Amino acid sequence: MRKSYFTTHPNQTKKLGKIVAKKVLKIKRKRRAQVLGLEGNLGGGKTTFLQGFAQGLGIKEKILSPTFVLIKRFKMKGFGFKYFYHIDCYRLKKSKEILDLGFKEIISNPQNIAAVEWADRIRKIMPKNTIWITFQFINRAQPIYGLSEGEDENKVLIAYKNRRKIRIKFK
Ligand SMILES: Nc1ncnc2c1ncn2[C@@H]1O[C@H](COP(=O)(O)OP(=O)(O)OP(=O)(O)O)[C@@H](O)[C@H]1O
Ligand SMILES: [Mg+2]
Repeated sequence: MRKSYFTTHPNQTKKLGKIVAKKVLKIKRKRRAQVLGLEGNLGGGKTTFLQGFAQGLGIKEKILSPTFVLIKRFKMKGFGFKYFYHIDCYRLKKSKEILDLGFKEIISNPQNIAAVEWADRIRKIMPKNTIWITFQFINRAQPIYGLSEGEDENKVLIAYKNRRKIRIKFK
């Protein structure tokens, strides 16, 4: 099932991240980590979303755009998980780089939750049960045809600029 959401303010995107975190925490535990794959436009709101997501996981530290680090680990308290990993593949040249940093181990440990920005760059090594989230930046200059799915959304879309469209696929 794919769902679309529109947000007009970073705080709305954060709130959505928080809601998704609560959903993820409720998903029946598997034998592997819970993994989110974030893809879409540059500056589309992925990190903003993850700030809310991390809050929803009870993490107090602020999630930042990792400029040089590819993987950042946050300790989780409660919810039966140990670590939340924020991974950003923007600067990645080859999948091997992330594999060398222990990506396989991270995604196979059921005590982990991992969110990967620019996950489309490592699509081949992303796990099958990944929750894929697409971020789309929409402004008034862009044609909106083909982007909207419902009549109502269509109407709202025209009225705002700097909108973010977020699509979440839950299995
Ligand atoms: N509705 C919105 N949702 C999210 N961010 C928004 C929104 N409106 C404006 N912004 C702003 O747009 C920027 C989004 O940047 P953010 O770093 O979250 O995107 P990103 O997808 O992680 O970028 P990158 O591709 O560089 O990783 C932020 O400065 C944020 O404040
Ligand atoms: Mg980012």
